[in-house]
Amino acid sequence: MMNEMKTKQVYIQTIGCQMNVYDSDRMAQALKTIGFTRTWQVEKADLILLNTCSVREKAEQKAFSFLGRLPGLKTENPDLLIGVGGCVAQQEGERILQRAPYVDLVFGTRAIDRLPAMVRRATEKRCRIVDVDLSEAAMAPFPIESDDRNGTPQPARFVTVMRGCDNFCAYCVVPFVRGRETSRAPEEILSEVRSLVAAGTREVTLLGQNVNSYGRKEGLCTFSELLAQVNAIEGLERIRFTTSHPKDLSQELIEAFGRLGKLCHHIHLPVQSGSNRILALMNRRYTREMYLEKLARLRAACPGIAVSSDIIVGFPGETADDFQETLHLLETVRYDSLFAFAYSDRPHAPAVHFDGKVPEAQRRARLQSLLALQARITAEKNRSMVGAIVTVLVEGPAKRGAETPPSDSVPQWTGRTSTNKIVNFIARGEDSASELTGKLVAVRIDRALRHSLWGVAVRTRKGANRYAA
Ligand code: 5AD
Ligand code: SF4
Repeated sequence: MMNEMKTKQVYIQTIGCQMNVYDSDRMAQALKTIGFTRTWQVEKADLILLNTCSVREKAEQKAFSFLGRLPGLKTENPDLLIGVGGCVAQQEGERILQRAPYVDLVFGTRAIDRLPAMVRRATEKRCRIVDVDLSEAAMAPFPIESDDRNGTPQPARFVTVMRGCDNFCAYCVVPFVRGRETSRAPEEILSEVRSLVAAGTREVTLLGQNVNSYGRKEGLCTFSELLAQVNAIEGLERIRFTTSHPKDLSQELIEAFGRLGKLCHHIHLPVQSGSNRILALMNRRYTREMYLEKLARLRAACPGIAVSSDIIVGFPGETADDFQETLHLLETVRYDSLFAFAYSDRPHAPAVHFDGKVPEAQRRARLQSLLALQARITAEKNRSMVGAIVTVLVEGPAKRGAETPPSDSVPQWTGRTSTNKIVNFIARGEDSASELTGKLVAVRIDRALRHSLWGVAVRTRKGANRYAA
């Protein structure tokens, strides 16, 4: 009896995007129903799950290198179960069992709700299982209970509002590994946000591959209407969302930035390339001019809005001139931050078969010059914030190794501005002893570092600049 009561522990390693972070939480939650608690120490685990990403080649390599470290643990504990989930699992299926003979479970992106049954069967029958069913019928509702991460408050959490993608950009594996676009019902999303707020969350980021087309297929409300309903939830302070496809960014959503008090002043609007020729080859279905026009409208509706983007360099057929157009776009837009990637072939993606592959050395060189240009722009933007007082939602104590200016006090806290800039800061006097996690704190910016800002908590009139910067 005692043995049966012993709780088992699951360790989950997450690679990839925010949606995977959310999915890992759902895995932990699903496994609670069969007696698993989550551990953050891999040696303690009875079950190790690897949640994988296959959007770029590098992420996929990371998954196999993590797996390569596990056979030793299995020798030490023969009852240890190892499972691989997420996009690589969806893409590779059975092949993972061949490549890594010590793996017991392979489960795809839509199999999370079936995970407890799989774990049980693998334990009882000592068999290996693969479930990569992507069909609509295989989708169970998302759980709406909140997971408290072992009692540590989490002021900022993700909530998936839609899964899959119907866009088929030529370079992208997502539609093949996450399936067709499917939106969750608004009631389900709202009740999930409410339960997170009750557990101490102050900021939610609504997730989808293309949130701008939320509900369109199912005839639900529009994404802006959903945002307005989330905005009305008491106790919630901030809302973010990602990702927006520029072609679907509606005027209604643009105006929401001016209208909804809790909507943060930041948008991630991936442009991918500054060349119209490459955008067409990528099947993005907008031009550089259309993109810039939408951006101008966003900036008019929400002055000072921070904008970030994704860019792929070295897409098949990209010439030196195309690349110059991308650099020029960066100068024109002046992004607050940028995620840039060298193109890599992905299974199923049409671009695999495109001519004009750019040699690796050239892709790497283009990436370096793009990143150097953006580093200059980011530094200039960050420097212009020195002296400003910003409102920071404190996410917790600053991590060891957080960026600190040389020969200065160690920051105590870390958080973000509404514009999504990371701020590490110290709190003096009365505030130095208080627990600030989850609070909105006014911080004066003293220094701009490479990837973050550094400052000191200050007292302001109550409520002043609550949602500023
Ligand atoms: N090669 C390089 N980057 C890619 N991305 C998606 N697919 C590829 C690929 N095949 C990038 C895009 C996308 C981000 C999540 O990853 O910029 O927006
Ligand atoms: Fe991939 Fe394009 Fe869909 Fe984004 S919109 S997930 S880049 S296919």
